[in-house]
Amino acid sequence: MALSTPPDQDIVVIGATGDLATRRLLPAFYNLERENLLPQRGNIVGFALNDWTDQDFRVHALKAVSFHSRTGLDERIWDRLSARLRFVAGNGDGLADLRRVLDLDRRLVYLSVPPSSVPTIVQGLGGVDLADGTSLVVEKPFGHDLPSAQQLNHTIHEVFPEERVFRIDHYLGKETVQNLLVFRFANPLFEREWNNDGIHRIEITVAETEGVGRRGRFYEETGALRDIVQNHLFQLLALIAMEAPVRMTPEAIRAEKAKLLAAARPIDPADVIRGQYTAGSIDGSTVAGYREEEGVNPDSATETYTALRMNIDSWRWGGTHFYLRTGKRLARRETRIVIVFRDAPLNFFETTEVKRLVSQKLHIRIQPNEGISLTFVLKEPGPVVTTQKVEMDFSYGESFKLTPPESYERLLHDAMVGDHTLFISEPEVVRGWEVVTPVLEAPPPIVPYTAGSLGPAEANELIAPRLWHALED
Ligand code: BG6
Repeated sequence: MALSTPPDQDIVVIGATGDLATRRLLPAFYNLERENLLPQRGNIVGFALNDWTDQDFRVHALKAVSFHSRTGLDERIWDRLSARLRFVAGNGDGLADLRRVLDLDRRLVYLSVPPSSVPTIVQGLGGVDLADGTSLVVEKPFGHDLPSAQQLNHTIHEVFPEERVFRIDHYLGKETVQNLLVFRFANPLFEREWNNDGIHRIEITVAETEGVGRRGRFYEETGALRDIVQNHLFQLLALIAMEAPVRMTPEAIRAEKAKLLAAARPIDPADVIRGQYTAGSIDGSTVAGYREEEGVNPDSATETYTALRMNIDSWRWGGTHFYLRTGKRLARRETRIVIVFRDAPLNFFETTEVKRLVSQKLHIRIQPNEGISLTFVLKEPGPVVTTQKVEMDFSYGESFKLTPPESYERLLHDAMVGDHTLFISEPEVVRGWEVVTPVLEAPPPIVPYTAGSLGPAEANELIAPRLWHALED
């Protein structure tokens, strides 16, 4: 089914000159314009502390689109987008000035700012009478910890009703992530094994080669646990492990995700490894260590890597371990879920050349090289019984012959039309913080790892005697 054109509305991006707006939001608006998925009437208003004019913002947006859009620049589409762009400087009476440039009764306000700035802005929007008719998109991390997230929900609800609040986690907008529900609930063969009887463990990895780039100051407030684990990784966990929803509606899906997270046991700090990258080399180029990055404290104890073991205390999952890890400046970029099925109860081949049977695994490649593969063991042709691991593979690129749209395009569209399916609900976000609270309160010491490596060796002890699946190209 084709996506619909959103109703007329203005779009405001608060924090419009920052990294997220530059690399992701402005290119997403450009591609939505290309697909005729922006409202027929409505401006895109950038708001930030810079002392800029509309023209300065257009120049900035043109660079952002040229550099970061997934499709090449087409002058006619750019002209249409550019005609919508306005800028309001946020210093002084910024929000009152913003009120004046918004002509339409309906609008979407996107808060692309650090969590600590959100309450003041939300109250300010209420103060200049901008609450009515506004839907609010709040970037992750939502709050800094459990009390601040609860306070933030309270502050937001004083100004905006829950049905107009969109807590964004851009992983939910990725095609491969949306596919998880279809894959699980349209293919009963897998679903029948999808429990502690059939599955030994589930590993979820978000590995990046990028460092913190221009975001050192933001990252110092955040760290990997808040930046990736509490949101992206927990959302992947919820989708891969939740029960079937009673129907495919936003409410039913979000309720099942919340129920899964409610069953997640708060993480024991002894089950967590926190690492920080030191100088090294990525793809043949030398890169700085985290403590040398711009905006980072030279004695920083912020983690750029986290690996952890956790349990879901539910009838379905008691006894299956979940291993989550994420890190910056690792050897390869890879987001992947690996389902490791239980081994055969008996090894009939012990007396042959087959020393050890390799576990059957399902690899769900979220990115890059999007696809799904199932590995299993077969006999190598020949007179002696020896085994080989083989693979059945589905690849998005080969089967569908297209590049999936960027997740922000889908999510901006859905927020404009008011569809909450791919956004995080209040109970999910609150429970996410509860689950990580023991680690925030008693963080294990930081261990170093070299940029370009597979992360700290200590993480191997968490999963021993098994091995993490190796990051692949
Ligand atoms: C963001 C994090 O939410 O996700 C970044 O703040 C991270 O630190 C990014 O780099 C990764 O997103 P993606 O889509 O490139 O996997």
